[in-house]
Amino acid sequence: MKKTLSLLALSTLIISSNAGTDNFNDDVIEAKQISNVTEESLNSIPSKKITLYQQYSVHLNDANANKKVEEQKPVEAEAEVSVGYNQKEIGILIKWKDDTKSVQPAMTTTKFGDGVSVQFPVKYGKGTTLAYIGMGDTKHPVMTYLKKAVEGRDYQKAFIAEGFGSLTEISEKGFSFTMKYDDTNKQWIAFIKKPIKTADLNLASGLVPVSFAIWDGDSLNRDGNKVISNWKFIKMDKMKTDPAYLKYVSWGYGDIGNPERGKELMIQNGCNGCHRFADQTSAPEGLAPNLSKIGGYSNPVYLRESIVNPNDVVIRNLNINRHYNKSAEKDKNGAYPNNDMYTWYIKDNKGNLTSKMPPYTHLSEQDLKDIVAYLKTLK
Ligand code: HEC
Repeated sequence: MKKTLSLLALSTLIISSNAGTDNFNDDVIEAKQISNVTEESLNSIPSKKITLYQQYSVHLNDANANKKVEEQKPVEAEAEVSVGYNQKEIGILIKWKDDTKSVQPAMTTTKFGDGVSVQFPVKYGKGTTLAYIGMGDTKHPVMTYLKKAVEGRDYQKAFIAEGFGSLTEISEKGFSFTMKYDDTNKQWIAFIKKPIKTADLNLASGLVPVSFAIWDGDSLNRDGNKVISNWKFIKMDKMKTDPAYLKYVSWGYGDIGNPERGKELMIQNGCNGCHRFADQTSAPEGLAPNLSKIGGYSNPVYLRESIVNPNDVVIRNLNINRHYNKSAEKDKNGAYPNNDMYTWYIKDNKGNLTSKMPPYTHLSEQDLKDIVAYLKTLK
């Protein structure tokens, strides 16, 4: 009996040493109610450290910039985030280290400035699944607030986005986003302040999903080449949290399964026929999202849904135009049509998108947990 026990303990140890041991609380940012939402008052609220990883699912149409992404060191970034709010406003203070301050010169397309964005799903709460982390998707629009260091210009924008490349700029009264470089500590300090409730977005809730992105101009970061966080959750201490929503978003944290078995299951189920991940590189790049770093910016429940219900979040690729079908006839302008093989969805005449990924509904609960545990290790 004694022997069995110790063996069991040992196997648990082995599993936990390589499984995603993240705790849901690591993704919770405690916000504090304050009378005045100012940068100063936010400085006195304890901050949360968050890690951002390279967005790698979708590649830019720029070999040079993509090469820099491969070379970028360190591959992840850390930021300190504090959130304060009152009945009227919410403020977020974001600090991150950057040894090289990059400000985009006024007239150039080859140099890029540092930047930061904060993103909220337009809808969230009970019964609403999580949005695609890369600027939302058709069924889950997101509100994105962007700040960039641009010479001679106060570059701040608010967008509603439904995926890469589908942005609608909106003007929001009472929204401001500042960004200043602290030479002593070699860090950027960004401060966003906005109404807690607008016609487009209501943040007055106990648990609000939020995600962050940082661009490093020095590494030619722009557009989708950036580091991003997964969905974090702002917990407003004085507001109510829906228990069903909390249960939903906190699914899959901790040791949920066996990542080694998860990898085997992915190979057995042919995931590597479309996706590239770890040493599985036989699928052509661009045929489906590259999963090599998916664990760094995806929540467990999102990964689970991607597998069983691929039509809920349908990802639009960034640059399908780079793939031409050279065996087809050229059009009247002498250009080849796009190669549909690299479009990740089928669009019907009503504009509905259907993923080219089949739903994997035959997998058992444990199979799903093992696969998600494996995907979480890919960073
Ligand atoms: C026939 C090709 C194909 C197969 C096989 C396939 N996928 Fe996919 N997968 C896609 C496409 C295309 C997308 C992007 C469109 C979408 O959002 O569904 C996608 C999206 C995903 C995403 C979301 C990626 C992101 O960046 O957020 C995950 C996770 C995923 N697949 C996992 C899997 C797993 C696990 C398997 C095997 C059990 C699998 N896929 C099998 C084509 C495929």
